[in-house]
Amino acid sequence: MIAVALTSLIAFLLYLLTEWRGRKRQEGEPPLIKGWIPYIGKALEFGRDAHKFLTSYKEKYGDIFTVRIAGKYMTFIMDPVLYPNVIKHGRQLDFHEFSDQVAPVTFGYPPIRSAKFPGMDEEIQKSYRLLQGENLSSLTENMMGNLQLLFRQDYLGEEGEWRTGDMYRFCNQVMFEATFMTMYGKPTHSTRHAGMAALREKFEKFDAMFPLLIAQIPISLLGATKAIRDDLIHFFLPEKMSAWCGSSRFIQRRTEVFEQYDLLGDLDKAAHHFAILWASVGNTVPATFWATYYLATHPDALAAVRGELDRVLQLEGWESGPPPNITLTLEQLDSLLYLGSAISESLRLSSASMNIRVAQEDFTLRLERGRSITVRKGDVIALYPQSVHMDPDIFQDPEVYKFDRFVEDGREKTDFYKHGQKLKYYRMPFGSGSTKCPGRYFAVNEMKQFLSLLLLYFDVEVLEGQKKVALDSSRAGLGVLLPASEVRFRYRPRQP
Ligand SMILES: *[C@@H]1O[C@H](CO)[C@@H](O)[C@H](O)[C@H]1NC(C)=O
Ligand SMILES: *[C@@H]1O[C@H](CO)[C@@H](O)[C@H](O)[C@H]1NC(C)=O
Repeated sequence: MIAVALTSLIAFLLYLLTEWRGRKRQEGEPPLIKGWIPYIGKALEFGRDAHKFLTSYKEKYGDIFTVRIAGKYMTFIMDPVLYPNVIKHGRQLDFHEFSDQVAPVTFGYPPIRSAKFPGMDEEIQKSYRLLQGENLSSLTENMMGNLQLLFRQDYLGEEGEWRTGDMYRFCNQVMFEATFMTMYGKPTHSTRHAGMAALREKFEKFDAMFPLLIAQIPISLLGATKAIRDDLIHFFLPEKMSAWCGSSRFIQRRTEVFEQYDLLGDLDKAAHHFAILWASVGNTVPATFWATYYLATHPDALAAVRGELDRVLQLEGWESGPPPNITLTLEQLDSLLYLGSAISESLRLSSASMNIRVAQEDFTLRLERGRSITVRKGDVIALYPQSVHMDPDIFQDPEVYKFDRFVEDGREKTDFYKHGQKLKYYRMPFGSGSTKCPGRYFAVNEMKQFLSLLLLYFDVEVLEGQKKVALDSSRAGLGVLLPASEVRFRYRPRQP
């Protein structure tokens, strides 16, 4: 309720501010849809179902149109055939202008690209390489150990009895803590951190306000959010982190970088580490939930993915149960085609991130076959991949979950078409071009590991008589959507 009221208020203020200086469409510009988002009702409608909204405008105005949202002119490019033309315009279309303004305000650290911190941005960008390629193997190994530790200590009972639980909560508890330990390490004298549940609960409260923070609504207007964020940041103060051991090289490297800047205070450093926590679990947890939910509600998919795992681990016909300590190398994880496809398919159905870029100058954006549009400095160019993910021309029966949609002839299927043209971009849960999430490989590996262990160690069933879980669209545009409701399910150690 607070959220709705505030959004309306802000939308209204922006309406008052901007209505009198609305602009006119000029030669070469896309159709300009007037009186769009400034009206409160429309703004809320957009938030509720951006995909439907954009689709209806596409039918009326074509593949490219400009609308005004919260005082900004945004040109939506709806046809994925045109995506490469936008994505390669790195010079004129910059993403950082947006992220540099929004992320510091959201997480509470000073802007990175500032004269106060010379070279810090470059060092931070370089640190992301520690999440890629061969650097992934130690992270992935540690994640596997942490996942097994939690599954064993908290969920794998001895007796083989069914236990019931809430599926989102289950995924959240395991992924949050395992990811936390993999990134930041463990206390020196214990295998687990104290206070994880409290940290996770605070994180959830902060995360619920995330869309409003991204919308640049001052945190002081958001009730207890500021105090909650302060608590979360305090968890990462240098004196606390220095008592943990076995943190990832990624976090170690960032810590070293921050040490080099005297103007970066302890709270600023902690806020940076907190932002990485958000980046590590904010989307991965709901993505893990959806992958689990779809597998648990599609027995054929679950059997195929589990069969593939058994084959890769050569567990076919096992009698004494899966080994107590399972390792899966990066190559083995890569070879799990059906598991990979099942994850891609659930991301196709649940991710809704808007890719935006800000025009750095007036320029002509060349599209294809001589087509082009004129773009003004400061305008935003937006891609909304959910419209691609749900396009029936590209994905037959787009609302249906097909776990093997991305497998063909024993390998990953990569040819998808629109207007007879093969698409370069058809699956974009992690953004595009230079704005792609640097942690995407780690995120997918983590999900594969979680699901592998879940299917190898447990039987899982959704309890009957529950309605199909819908998407909660309150963060449409910002990433993987949350489920609108919980799912009751039961699990027990896997029976032969
Ligand atoms: C692994 O990290 C190091 C150190 O940042 C970097 O030089 C190297 O390029 C990274 N490897 C890959 C494949 O990104
Ligand atoms: C599991 O196996 C890995 C790799 O073989 C090893 O590093 C790790 O210590 C083992 N964990 C346990 C709990 O035995």
